[in-house]
Amino acid sequence: SDIEKGTYPHYMLKEMDEQPTVIRKIIQAYEGDNGELTIDAEILEALRAADRLYIIAAGTSSHAGLIGKQYFEKMAGIPVEVHISSEFGYNMPLLSEKPLFIFITQSGETADSRQVLVKIKELGYPTLTITNVPGSTLSREADHTLLLHAGPEIAVASTKAYVAQIAVLALAAYVTARANGKDLEFDLKQELAIVANGIQTIIDSKDVLEDIAEDYLKIARNAFFIGRNIDFYVSLEGALKLKEISYIQAEGFAGGELKHGTIALIEEGTPVFALVTQASVALNIRGNVKEVAARGAHPCIIAMAGIDEDGDRLVIPHVHELLTPLVSVVPLQLISYYAALHRRCDVDKPRNLAKSVTVE
Ligand code: G6P
Repeated sequence: SDIEKGTYPHYMLKEMDEQPTVIRKIIQAYEGDNGELTIDAEILEALRAADRLYIIAAGTSSHAGLIGKQYFEKMAGIPVEVHISSEFGYNMPLLSEKPLFIFITQSGETADSRQVLVKIKELGYPTLTITNVPGSTLSREADHTLLLHAGPEIAVASTKAYVAQIAVLALAAYVTARANGKDLEFDLKQELAIVANGIQTIIDSKDVLEDIAEDYLKIARNAFFIGRNIDFYVSLEGALKLKEISYIQAEGFAGGELKHGTIALIEEGTPVFALVTQASVALNIRGNVKEVAARGAHPCIIAMAGIDEDGDRLVIPHVHELLTPLVSVVPLQLISYYAALHRRCDVDKPRNLAKSVTVE
């Protein structure tokens, strides 16, 4: 397996580097004969027939699910609920008349998610698994499968699979919306190609992210990730990455929620990573940054080109406003990676964690 890693010191670094290629592979894999993005006709029918989607997932996959909800609701107009698999059994929601259950799982083996699938099949509802592993348990047991085409992910901390999950969710929502006659004013294929280039630009400036990790996290005890709207969901993933591999206590928060408790934790020098990719909430999240800065925090603003301002620590390439998570997560992954390296942590095999958890 050292051979597969090639010249890379860690699988995680290799897998982060593969992300532009993964996006391009997904475009190819889901391109129909006419060059337009498409999904299997039966899956499209299942999506169109549903009056509500129930996304079930754990860990990083559940963070991708939160973004998938935005896609299906905003593009296709289909209501979506996102549930953590381990909790679903206790808090089974009242189901709509025609639910479709979507299981998002990189490995296709997560026991918490499988347990929900088994129960839903007993109830007789249709199921779709979105997974990176063809032939995996959840793929075999669900009615339908959409593949991520990300190639094997070895590092315990998920990177390219998360990005692939978001891209495939965007694609499925887009294709469903178009089939339903929704007037979408953008060409997803083109926008995803722009995303692939945007990710590459960030990957090519790794040294900047190494500097940020050193500046902000070398001696940090904790760190906060804040965002609003879709940036909030990416903040959750940024915090999870940092926790997983560097063991720094980290939390993701909605910018507006900080003042309702968490701001009490801000001390002199507390790192606060703020994502600013959504024009509609840029002013508000910048306001939150000012609030924490006034209390001594060390803010690191990561803004998208076009809505960036002087003093932002990192400007990421401009992409379609719905697709920003695909790009904004990449600096967070790299910052976590370098923070873990500074602390001499075992990046690919963090303590206490497993790549796929086959116990409930
Ligand atoms: C484990 C991994 C996480 C992953 C989660 C869900 O806890 O360490 O990185 O997000 O399982 O895995 P899945 O394969 O279902 O996406």
